Amino acid sequence: SDKIKILAIESSCDETAAAVVEDGRCVKSNIISSQIELHKLYGGVVPEIASRKHVEKVNFVVREALKEAGETLDSIDAIAVTYGPGLVGALLVGVAEAKALAFAKKKPLVGVHHIEGHICANYIEHPDLEPPFLCLVVSGGHTHLVDVKDYGKYEIIGCTRDDAAGEAFDKVARAIGLGYPGGPKIEALAKEGDKNAISFPRAKVNDSKMDFSFSGLKSSVLNYLNKCEMKGEEVNRADVAASFQEAVVDVLSSHGVEAAKELGYKKLAIAGGVASNGAFRAKMIERCKEAGIEFYHPSPIFCTDNAAMIGVCGYYDYINGVRSGLDLNAVPGLKI
Ligand code: KG4
Ligand code: ZN
Repeated sequence: SDKIKILAIESSCDETAAAVVEDGRCVKSNIISSQIELHKLYGGVVPEIASRKHVEKVNFVVREALKEAGETLDSIDAIAVTYGPGLVGALLVGVAEAKALAFAKKKPLVGVHHIEGHICANYIEHPDLEPPFLCLVVSGGHTHLVDVKDYGKYEIIGCTRDDAAGEAFDKVARAIGLGYPGGPKIEALAKEGDKNAISFPRAKVNDSKMDFSFSGLKSSVLNYLNKCEMKGEEVNRADVAASFQEAVVDVLSSHGVEAAKELGYKKLAIAGGVASNGAFRAKMIERCKEAGIEFYHPSPIFCTDNAAMIGVCGYYDYINGVRSGLDLNAVPGLKI
């Protein structure tokens, strides 16, 4: 067929993933081998263990992705792979795999930016969505407001000054004994709590409307827990989870909508692991509706790390002529 098929590989953190994407919007397969159960034992991702597990799983997920899509290495048009940002040893596994396959099968290689991939996840289920739009990327390592000017053309217009939103979820979860990964556990516990029970601060960054700060909120939760302990009061953990989550989604959604208004954008998308949070999505729906802004979000499976989003981003890079050489390397601190 004359459709363009991209085989995509993602291994930047703790998911080994491969996918086949057709013409940039149609996901033919999306295989994810998660290491969560393994890292749970240590309360967070252990980089060296992550790399070793990727080495073990990467061939398997590639084979499964091709099989499920009904494709072979010969029938695909190009290979896309995440080369940063992320854990260097984890990234290297996907990069080395993609290079080996590209070399052996003489296929074009396209290095993809992980955060651009998260943004592109929005194209999968919204065939009508096209740039320009504004995207709020909220993951474990990043909280960015990104001006998506065109396919492959991005400008960061705001970011966190300290902790990423997902990082705050993970740290607060640890403090109230929920373990790793914190986001989904806080979301589940928050359903049993009162979001107005405790008034945690809405972090403001004085000299910028576009930037975020979450370390103050995290400290305020830790202080609250310490005070309760000192007074010998029992902590209602569900109330803490609900009130903390409310503070985060309040700040994220108001900032996002204000930024869209200020820049005159009528389309606002969210992306990254935290975008799978139901309370966050509900608040965005409400505030975007009030402001007359069209709101977009990927399904939870395309919010957390996956290779389908890398295939989508890789497709647009590919048709824009982006090609990586066989000297492609992992870039752990890659910038947009
Ligand atoms: O995008 P992602 O899978 O990996 C990175 O690129 O960082 O994001 C992972 C982050 C973690 O901090 C995790 O706690 C958070 O996303 N997360 C959530 C939820 N699911 C994942 N945060 C809040 N609510 C959730 N349901
Ligand atoms: Zn990610």
